[in-house]
Amino acid sequence: MSGLVPPHGGKLRPLLITGMEREESIAEAKTLPKVWLNSREISDLIMLATGAFSPLTGFMLRDDYKSVVSEMRMKNGLLWPIPITLSCSKEQAANFKEDQKLALIDPDGNKIVAVMSLQEKYPYDKNFEALNVFGTNDQEHPGVKNIYRQGEIYLGGMVTVFSEGGYPERFPEFARPQETRDIFTEKGWTNIAAFQTRNPMHRSHEYLTKIALEVSDGLFLHPIVGKLKEGDIPAEVRMECYRVLLENYYPKDRVVLKVYPMEMRYGGPREALLHAIIRQNFGCSHLIVGRDHAGVGNYYGPFDAQNIFDGLRADDLAIQPLKLDVTFWCNYCGCMASPKTCPHPDEYHLSISGTRLREMMVKGERPPTEFSRKEVLDILLRYYQGERAIR
Ligand code: ADX
Repeated sequence: MSGLVPPHGGKLRPLLITGMEREESIAEAKTLPKVWLNSREISDLIMLATGAFSPLTGFMLRDDYKSVVSEMRMKNGLLWPIPITLSCSKEQAANFKEDQKLALIDPDGNKIVAVMSLQEKYPYDKNFEALNVFGTNDQEHPGVKNIYRQGEIYLGGMVTVFSEGGYPERFPEFARPQETRDIFTEKGWTNIAAFQTRNPMHRSHEYLTKIALEVSDGLFLHPIVGKLKEGDIPAEVRMECYRVLLENYYPKDRVVLKVYPMEMRYGGPREALLHAIIRQNFGCSHLIVGRDHAGVGNYYGPFDAQNIFDGLRADDLAIQPLKLDVTFWCNYCGCMASPKTCPHPDEYHLSISGTRLREMMVKGERPPTEFSRKEVLDILLRYYQGERAIR
């Protein structure tokens, strides 16, 4: 017994096939009708391949989809907050028959990456999906925009996957849930706090993880490296920041840094639940949920993503949220703090918005090291000053 939390739904279901099975399936796939995936769909397919979306076995069927959108649950009652879907146009769907197999194509490199057994094709209501999942149908919202951009028909069915799309080669920190479970077991950890991030880590982020380290066996630093919205910082640059931060400011044996290929939906509270399910699959007992987790613009309240956990049934998740307040540097205290630990008014609190930070960096201005570590700022300044080819 590892003592780790069980995977969501009880069992890891990695859908990547290998060896002879893979060879035979690739040969068969060459004869099948093709479906080109969009970038979110390919990243979801890799999540399915690794088992990070366990216990899903493919793209959602109609009943599961409807139930996930309106109730945040699969038809069988299992918690699942965001639909995992594959879209195509009406014209394309007209050529496909239910019960046939399809070859799924990675748009980058035009390669067959999976076979899907098409079980159902069905129309869906974009407005209904957007309002339920994102709480808005405003197409300025990047998650909503993606729904409106994609085809009108969803294709549902089980998949077998041949390829993880170059991720293991691009990111040495790419890991599958079984691998992190093995690492944690080897280390003897059971009480593990996961940190989700799509940003370079500034002092606020660092502080959240250090609070967690004070009360956990270890920290699982787990940045998302799928495509982000415009203005967010590319994964390669962020990886440089995480590595340098770990090297200089964390005890080596207490942190595991791995990445996952999903794309952000910017779905705030519902995405926080998805982030929790994923980290449970990776073996974590806690997910740090701070201010405006997975949020964008002003679509969500700062603690909506924490509050959504309160409405769950006791057995919905084995992982628990580690809910933390807004954190900042306080000039009066002379340390990182939060409203729970600091009595001073806002004027003592160092706060730099994302937009302001970008402006400063583009101009070559250096924010104070109370906001972000020098080593991280060096990397970001190089990036903003046009040295984009940082690897
Ligand atoms: S996110 O989209 O991945 O949530 P980000 O990488 O900025 O964005 O945040 C990672 C985690 O840190 C989230 O749990 C978020 O709520 C939390 N967080 C970020 N900044 C702060 C802050 N100043 N105070 C408290 N929590 C924060």
